Amino acid sequence: MSQPLRIGLIGCGGISRAHAHAMQTLGQQMVRVIATCDVDEALAQERARESGAESAFTDWREVLKREDIDAVDLCLPHDLHAEVAIAAAQAGKHILVEKPLATTLEDGWAMVHAAREAGVVLMTAFVERFEAENWRTKQLIDEGWLGAPVLAQLDHLQHVTFPPGHWARERKRLGGGAIASAGCHRLDLLRWFIGEVEWVSAETYYQPERMEGEAAGVVNLQFASGAIATMSISWLSPYRAFYRKLWLEGTEGAVHNWNGFHVFSRKKPEWAEGFVKLELEPVDPFAAEIRHFVQCVREGKEPLTNGEDSLRSQAVAIAANVSEETGCRVRPAELLAQALEKAG
Ligand SMILES: NC(=O)c1ccc[n+]([C@@H]2O[C@H](COP(=O)([O-])OP(=O)(O)OC[C@H]3O[C@@H](n4cnc5c(N)ncnc54)[C@H](O)[C@@H]3O)[C@@H](O)[C@H]2O)c1
Repeated sequence: MSQPLRIGLIGCGGISRAHAHAMQTLGQQMVRVIATCDVDEALAQERARESGAESAFTDWREVLKREDIDAVDLCLPHDLHAEVAIAAAQAGKHILVEKPLATTLEDGWAMVHAAREAGVVLMTAFVERFEAENWRTKQLIDEGWLGAPVLAQLDHLQHVTFPPGHWARERKRLGGGAIASAGCHRLDLLRWFIGEVEWVSAETYYQPERMEGEAAGVVNLQFASGAIATMSISWLSPYRAFYRKLWLEGTEGAVHNWNGFHVFSRKKPEWAEGFVKLELEPVDPFAAEIRHFVQCVREGKEPLTNGEDSLRSQAVAIAANVSEETGCRVRPAELLAQALEKAG
């Protein structure tokens, strides 16, 4: 039996709880948290206790020095992703980094380059790719049941507030606003479902007392295939529930997630009379995501959401912010090309 992947969990705030819990679920034969780290020592110790880690640090450099750690799981503020990931790659550690990859395309590219140079796996934790309804949607597209995608609508509606002084209130530290931070999940899904994005335009809504970046936004997309989509994100939803709409239509069929996951397809008699509800196996998407990371490290495979791919999703989110500033439609590929040229 192969050895467990030995993890240093860096950043022990909100989302690290889901990561630590998922690693516990996967079991010590697959993955073990060896050390935790947070500038807030109490959080580092709390997460160490929960995950059975031997050590809790307050300086991430101490984690990278440990020879008994194979990989780091970065659950850090966005502006720290690049610095810590690059140092981790240089220390020979594989990297699972929370989304978005980085706050700028230049930083994202530097992470990709560092991981390539060091020969380590770099994966972004785009957990929505591992959710049952999204996985099934991708499968239905790939199997041809929906035909060629034509139109998609993806929403993310949530009530989010950050306490005064929290890093996410600062545009620079967040890398934008709600679009780049949480909307990036939906933009990444759209790329996964439909392909590369040709044009992006965006409208945004600000509430400066809440955060510097936009608190809500609508992004329009046109894909290289000609397909079109909208992605709406709000952190201002008045209700506490977390609601994410999915609607995707192709030339032959459609899926939606209103009151369950539904499919229609002209290509299958059972699905051709109207929308049919499909029962999906429940999955813990965080466990599925971390299992995928472990498998990629063990088998030397590229993750589904590797650095290069995540950089393209990040370019779409950044293009939305450029569009709101300039009032123009923006090509993400041009932004990416400019960033790579700058990086040499
Ligand atoms: N469902 C999702 O996919 C999802 C949800 C929430 C957050 N996230 C992502 O997870 C990451 C972390 O977000 P969060 O909500 O957990 O934030 P958070 O603020 O709750 O946690 C971040 C932690 O990092 C610690 N930290 C800050 N500077 C540090 C340093 N130099 N060294 C070590 N620790 C340091 C902070 O003390 C804090 O505990 C972000 O990338 C965010 O976008 C993903």
